[in-house]
Amino acid sequence: MIQEPPESRSPETRERPIITMVPDVESADQLARERPALRDWMELRLGWWGFVRKNLDEPMPPGVGWWQTLGNLLLTMLVFQFTTGVLMAMYYSPSPQSAYPSVKHITDTVTAGSLIRGLHVWGSTCIVVAMTLHTLRVFFWGSYKKPRELTWVVGVLIFQVMLAFSFTGYLLPWDQKAFWATVVGTRIAATIPFVGQDLLVLIRGGDEVGALTLTRFYAIHVMILPAALMALIGIHLYLVRRHHIAGPVIPQKGAPQPFFPNQLFRDVIVVIIGIGAMFALALLFPPGLEAPADPAGTDFTPRPEWYFLGLYELLKIMPAGWELVATTIVPGIVTIGMLFLPWLDRSRSRHPAKRGWTILLGTFVILMIGLMTLKGILETPPHSAHSAPAEQHARH
Ligand code: HEM
Repeated sequence: MIQEPPESRSPETRERPIITMVPDVESADQLARERPALRDWMELRLGWWGFVRKNLDEPMPPGVGWWQTLGNLLLTMLVFQFTTGVLMAMYYSPSPQSAYPSVKHITDTVTAGSLIRGLHVWGSTCIVVAMTLHTLRVFFWGSYKKPRELTWVVGVLIFQVMLAFSFTGYLLPWDQKAFWATVVGTRIAATIPFVGQDLLVLIRGGDEVGALTLTRFYAIHVMILPAALMALIGIHLYLVRRHHIAGPVIPQKGAPQPFFPNQLFRDVIVVIIGIGAMFALALLFPPGLEAPADPAGTDFTPRPEWYFLGLYELLKIMPAGWELVATTIVPGIVTIGMLFLPWLDRSRSRHPAKRGWTILLGTFVILMIGLMTLKGILETPPHSAHSAPAEQHARH
């Protein structure tokens, strides 16, 4: 025990008990509050562990299982997509003279460059597949219904942003495939009545696909879309947490289980499989490059990314003068229908059997998109070939 000299103590404290070397519980608490250990200080400032704990304890209604793992798989895939994208941006140069050689350099020379590019290219395909499955799960479970309408609406916007990522990224290697797919893809804008031609010039940065199209697409791909995606995903996750995950369409007996350990275990398994598949595809089928873009050449068959092939097929079967149906009306109706689905589907029940027309129409649209995409995949030549006559009218 030590004793403070009385003169060093204020008049108010002079009569209080002396301070001991072994602090009692109260003073230890006070000390911890005033001078917390680094770990506690971090926790007090950041609340990180509390945040993790809250998420681990998130209640999962009975019946939630493997289908609910896709959201977190998507999050993990996006982390890979951002990382590989940033790594490539350190070497990539967006100009018609340098874009192709820089991508070739990444693929052929940079350490692990081929794998990084492969992960990015296959990542976009895997994300579209996982996102489609996630959307189908939410659709058939009726999870877009009250109170999750806005979670769905934000999801639909995320879907559009992801497609825009793919469309803008496709041009960046500046090879024949990239160039001609963009010529045809941007041409779609011109079919919109009244504003079409101005819109085409705005997107291309001129009348033709050229240097300004490339810089414009690059800026959109690496600045505007990532910012939009992060904001939308933030809102999406906030809403998922706010309204919690919907249980199965027929509520099951039992108490809700915390996210940890069972659901987290399922998530980890699915993430390992999903990311493993991405690595396998990137290693087994590394993305190549075709000949450098040749705006003067006219014998290249435009080949969009596979998930745009359904629309492209629709465009091909449209008689001349009807392109607007394939380029704007059909995709517009599907997108607006999706955005307003929670309010168009008036049934109270989430059970598919009680959502007659929604399930019928939804299944019809899904089948049509699936069949048209399959037709496109089967009919599109894998390598450059001469244009089919049906495609000539789609070119500029
Ligand atoms: C990269 C894109 C996306 C990410 C990272 C993401 C993430 C998530 C996560 C983590 C969950 C909770 C777990 C789960 O249900 O799987 C979730 C639920 C949900 N998502 Fe997404 N999502 C994405 C895209 C979409 C899309 C495209 C839609 C719809 C068009 C959508 C609609 C919903 C809805 C309505 C829920 C709530 C489901 C329920 O409560 O059962 N999401 N999302």
